[in-house]
Amino acid sequence: MTNQKLRAGVIGCGLGAYHGYAYANAPEFELIAVCDLKPDVLDRFFERSRITRGTVHEYTDYHAMLDKENLDVVSVATPDDYHVNPVCDASNAGVKGIFCEKPLTIRLQDGDRMIETIERNGTKMSVDHTRSWVPLYQTVRQAVRSGELGALTRIVAHMGGRRSMLFRNGTHLIDAVCYFAEAEPVWVIAAHERGLEDYGIEYKGEGGKDPQLDPASTLIVEFANGIRGIVNSAKMTPAIFEFDLLGPNGRYWLTDAHCTAWKTDQPEGAPKTVTAPQAGGFQDYMGDTLIPAVQELAQMVWNDAPSSSPPRRALNTLEIMLGALISQSRNSAKIHLPLPRD
Ligand SMILES: NC(=O)c1ccc[n+]([C@@H]2O[C@H](COP(=O)([O-])OP(=O)(O)OC[C@H]3O[C@@H](n4cnc5c(N)ncnc54)[C@H](O)[C@@H]3O)[C@@H](O)[C@H]2O)c1
Repeated sequence: MTNQKLRAGVIGCGLGAYHGYAYANAPEFELIAVCDLKPDVLDRFFERSRITRGTVHEYTDYHAMLDKENLDVVSVATPDDYHVNPVCDASNAGVKGIFCEKPLTIRLQDGDRMIETIERNGTKMSVDHTRSWVPLYQTVRQAVRSGELGALTRIVAHMGGRRSMLFRNGTHLIDAVCYFAEAEPVWVIAAHERGLEDYGIEYKGEGGKDPQLDPASTLIVEFANGIRGIVNSAKMTPAIFEFDLLGPNGRYWLTDAHCTAWKTDQPEGAPKTVTAPQAGGFQDYMGDTLIPAVQELAQMVWNDAPSSSPPRRALNTLEIMLGALISQSRNSAKIHLPLPRD
């Protein structure tokens, strides 16, 4: 396949500004056009993305952008409940690669429709569960895959601080548990924070601007390979985001900046500190963190490379979050996954 630069466009220019930056700064791409319904968001896009105004075409209708610009790849960074139409329309218009913001969507039927559409059209797609491309996370996953800890047993994930929300940020935490577990989730149990016990079975967070509309929740998730995830998210705690990966031979404690490791002399023995996997962590400017993600998307389009954050895992993450809402509504009952479609 030719290595001519891929023509990129962005739909939704809030957080989408970082997608624009990533395309503009990755040699595989030329950023051709951007689109937002709101002209004032486009005004701010250029400052946020560090792109000079006038160098890309601007649209307020993504159908017009898809019709005119012959795009190879598109980012979809519209609000959580508006990913489905731009993703399906871009795929049906013949775009070869899509980088969709997280969460995949907030409704299972929409997730199913996206996956059915891209698979039918052969469109490559990644979902921006951003840690999937952070070198430290990739290095730790590689160490886990190579058996450094023995077969993983538990993944304990913590998210703290006032923006601990099941959907807005929790999707990153839960997806990272799925990233390390590498198996299908089979059941979930959940208990929400006090005051949001009666939240109901539909997401009502309005895009995560108000933390009181999106519950912190404590989840237990079992995966088909026996790994159990314990996901603890709580407001009224320090702002942390971290993982404890445990197997019979040791333990990795992982944050966005570093990893600490312990190993045992014999399986299930006493842990001793050892040299941990090392690599770069989360970057200060989000656009820089997204460059490896779009570079991988180019390889997916050109060479059929796999995605580090495939839509099917994002759908599993959504199933876990929606299953957590159902569990809470039924007195923390065990909810089997996948959820039934009505
Ligand atoms: N990966 C991350 O760490 C991260 C961080 C923040 C937000 N996000 C995700 O990014 C997405 C966008 O978040 P945000 O904070 O920028 O939301 P936002 O509501 O501030 O911005 C979304 C933009 O999309 C535009 N839009 C909506 N429908 C459109 C359409 N049909 N055509 C063109 N533009 C349209 C809106 O006008 C708005 O400007 C969400 O899914 C959110 O969860 C991801």
